[in-house]
Amino acid sequence: MRLSGKTAIITGGGSGIGRASAVRFAAEGAFVALVDRDGDGARETLSMLREHGGDGSVRVGDVGDPTFAATTVAQVTVTRRRLDVLMTAAGFSCGGTVVTTSPEDWDAVFRANVGGTWLWARAAVPIMQRQKSGAIITLASQLAVAGGRGNSAYIAAKGAIVSLTRTMAVDFAEDGIRVNALAPGAIETPLLRRSFGRHADPQAVREASRQRHAMKRFGLPEEVANAALYLASDEAGFTTGVVLPVDGGWLAA
Ligand SMILES: NC(=O)c1ccc[n+]([C@@H]2O[C@H](COP(=O)([O-])OP(=O)(O)OC[C@H]3O[C@@H](n4cnc5c(N)ncnc54)[C@H](O)[C@@H]3O)[C@@H](O)[C@H]2O)c1
Repeated sequence: MRLSGKTAIITGGGSGIGRASAVRFAAEGAFVALVDRDGDGARETLSMLREHGGDGSVRVGDVGDPTFAATTVAQVTVTRRRLDVLMTAAGFSCGGTVVTTSPEDWDAVFRANVGGTWLWARAAVPIMQRQKSGAIITLASQLAVAGGRGNSAYIAAKGAIVSLTRTMAVDFAEDGIRVNALAPGAIETPLLRRSFGRHADPQAVREASRQRHAMKRFGLPEEVANAALYLASDEAGFTTGVVLPVDGGWLAA
């Protein structure tokens, strides 16, 4: 097993990419602490990974809350005596250009996506420094590299996550901590369905997005989870500071 005996924290573990990664990590031997503001979703994920012989725990709260981040990381580490992997998958988008996005929506998107990366890394890094090992996996987006329409706060936040990932990778490389970002294309999750649902003709936007991928299809959360597993495992021992597309050829096309 590729994560045998390891402890992982996955934010956004109650749905989509975070859930699929939690199931995959647990199947590879990791204990997975699931963090989400959706307690029902996180508990459902816990049942799923237990069904497959894995184990984990659930913490419910807002990833943008500094106290919640600090206490959760500390509690998980005290209970498990180590922290090997942090994956920050909690996030959401609100849609809108810079003109139509309200200041409140802008702040909320940055708080969850960027704050939800920074605050958790801030709590996890000192523990990983003491261990002299650790892997942090952040969630960017192919849109952070390519740009995109009508989603300015989200795309700007994902761009910030790319920069944050690279700077953390450099700052902590000599401490044995690897920091990498995933840049998924459109992945079949509730987030994607909500984002199409904001448009006047969701079906037309969905089809245009599908066609924009070189593979002419959307990705599955499990396909992102496989890439996350690689970055979390010792197989990626010489890989840090990368932004790994899992995008069906979107960025290449
Ligand atoms: N689905 C895609 O097409 C896609 C593409 C590129 C990047 N991403 C990124 O991947 C990550 C996971 O997305 P997904 O598609 O699995 O979405 P999802 O909506 O299925 O899951 C996101 C989870 O994060 C949780 N969450 C959101 N904000 C939170 C907060 N403030 N505090 C605590 N929990 C919070 C939600 O409750 C949900 O369970 C996100 O960062 C997203 O931006 C997704």
